Amino acid sequence: MSSPAEPANLMEAIVSLAKRRGFIYLSSEIYGGFNGFFDYGPLGAELKKNIRDCWWNDMVRRRDDIVGLESSIIMHPKVWEASGHVAGFTDPLVDCKVSKQRYRADQLFFAAVVVDGKTVGYVSALESENTAAELQAAAEAFKRKKAIQGALAPVAPKEFTEARPEEIEFIPSPATGEPGSLTPPRSFNMMFQTNVGALTDASSVAYLRPETAQGMFADFRNVIDTTRVKLPFGIAQIGKSFRNEITPRNFIFRSREFEQMEMEYFIHPDADWLKCHEEWLAWCQDWLKSIGLPASHLSLYEHPKEKLSFYSRRTVDIMFKYPFGVQELWGIAARSDYDLQQHQKFSGVPQVYFDEATKTKVVPHVIEPALGVDRTLLAVLCAAYAEDEAPDEKGKMEKRTVLRFSPRIAPVKVAILPLLKNKEVLTHRARALHAKLKRRYAVQYDDGGAIGKRYRRQDEAGTPWCVTIDFDTIEKPGDTFTLRDRDTMQQKRITEAELFALLEEQVY
Ligand code: GAP
Repeated sequence: MSSPAEPANLMEAIVSLAKRRGFIYLSSEIYGGFNGFFDYGPLGAELKKNIRDCWWNDMVRRRDDIVGLESSIIMHPKVWEASGHVAGFTDPLVDCKVSKQRYRADQLFFAAVVVDGKTVGYVSALESENTAAELQAAAEAFKRKKAIQGALAPVAPKEFTEARPEEIEFIPSPATGEPGSLTPPRSFNMMFQTNVGALTDASSVAYLRPETAQGMFADFRNVIDTTRVKLPFGIAQIGKSFRNEITPRNFIFRSREFEQMEMEYFIHPDADWLKCHEEWLAWCQDWLKSIGLPASHLSLYEHPKEKLSFYSRRTVDIMFKYPFGVQELWGIAARSDYDLQQHQKFSGVPQVYFDEATKTKVVPHVIEPALGVDRTLLAVLCAAYAEDEAPDEKGKMEKRTVLRFSPRIAPVKVAILPLLKNKEVLTHRARALHAKLKRRYAVQYDDGGAIGKRYRRQDEAGTPWCVTIDFDTIEKPGDTFTLRDRDTMQQKRITEAELFALLEEQVY
C-alpha cells in the first residue's frame, strides 16, 4: 500500500467528490441552490443511514438501560417557552446596510489600527483559522493606503460583540471594506416559525424544533408510565432539527436543516453526576473511534465555568480536526434537573420518578450527549479521504482517490464483479452471489468496463471489498472468488462461506 497523501485543499477535494459520486448535493440546485440546505444522494443516503443505524444499535438496542423515541418535529409552542428557547435561543446579529449581508457578531472580528499609540482607524475580518494574521495584514494595508507615518502596533482582535457604540461607525463592513454600514448587534432568535391551522395569527404560531432533546423531556412521563425503566436510564432519539443559522457555512458542518442523535440519561439527584458525565464522555469517544474516526483527530474542549448556560453544571465538547479547523462534533452536557423542572412548572404535570428505595418522588437530573449526524458524516468523509497510487491495466502507477471508510459505515460493503460481461457462466454465478448477499448487506453488481476501472470506481465510493468471479471460480474446485481489499489492494481467494464470515465480523 502506498502512503496516503492529503491534497492541498482537502475540503475542496471532498466537496467535489461528494458531488461527483452522489454523496451530497446542494438542495434545489436547479434553482441555484438554497443556502444552508443540502440533499444526500444515493451513496450519501446509505452512509447517513449507516451512521444512524450504528448509533441506534450501540446506544439503544445493545444497552439494557436506554429506550428509543420518535417525537414530533412541531410540538406545542409552550414546550419552547418552558425550555427557554423562545426567550433565549438567540445569536447576536449584525447587518451591513449597504450590501444587505448578515453576520454573527461573535464570528466577526475587528481591531483598532494604532500608529504611534494613536487609533487611526479600524479593520475587520470574519472568523477563520487566521483571523489575527488577516487583521494584521489589513491594518498594514490601511496604514499604507492612508500614507500614515509611524510605528504600527500589533493588532488586538476583538469580537464585534465587544465593540463600543462609538466604535461601530468606524469599523468597516467585511462586504464593502468601508466603515459606516454595520448595525449594532441585536438578538436574533434562530427558531423557524410557522403557523398551524387555517388561521395565521399570534395564536397559531408554532416552531420547527431546534433540537430533538425537548421531545425526550416532554415524553418523560409517558416513557416511565409505559415501560419498566428504572433510574438510571436514558431516552434516545434521532431526528431532524432546524435552526435559522445567520451564517451557515463549511458545507454540511453548519446548516439550517440538520439531523441530531441525542440521548437524555436520567440519574437520581443524589447520584455521582460527575462520574456519570465522565463515563459518557469515554463512551462517546470510543463510539466515534468504532466508526473509523482516528483518535489523533479527536480532542476535548471543556466549557469554561463562566460561559456555561446557567443550568449546566459541566459541558465538554468532543472536537474533531476538520480541514477548516478544530470544531465541535459532540456536546456532552450535565443539564441538572432544569428541563424537567421547567416542564413541570409550565405544564403543571409533575415530572417525577418514584424512588422505590426511599419511597420518595424525585425529579431526576440529566446527562446529555448531543451529536449531529451531518457533522459526523463530514468528519467521516474528511478522515476517510485519501489519495495514493495504484497500477492501471498495464501496470503503470496512476493516482487513485479512495475513501477508507470503516466497513461498519461504508455505503456499499461489497462489489460483485464478473470478470467478463458477456460470459454467461461468469455473470450467472455473480448474479447468484449478488442475490444472496443483498438480502443482508448493501452490495453492488458492476460489470461495466475493465476490472481496474471498476476497482477505482469502488475505491472512490469507499467499498471495502471487491469480489471478482473469474474462470477459476467456475472451472476449479472450491467455488472460490478473488477478494480484493480496498486499503491494501491485496487479493486472495475466498469461498462464499468465508466471505459471509468476514462480513459478519466486520459489519455490525
Ligand atoms: N440538545 C442540545 C443541543 O442541541 P447543540 O450543541 O446546540 O446542543 C448538538 O447541538 C449537536 O448538534 C452539535 O454538537 C452538532 O453536532 C449538531 N449541530 C448543532 N447545530 C448544527 C447545525 N446548524 N448544523 C449541523 N449540525 C449542528
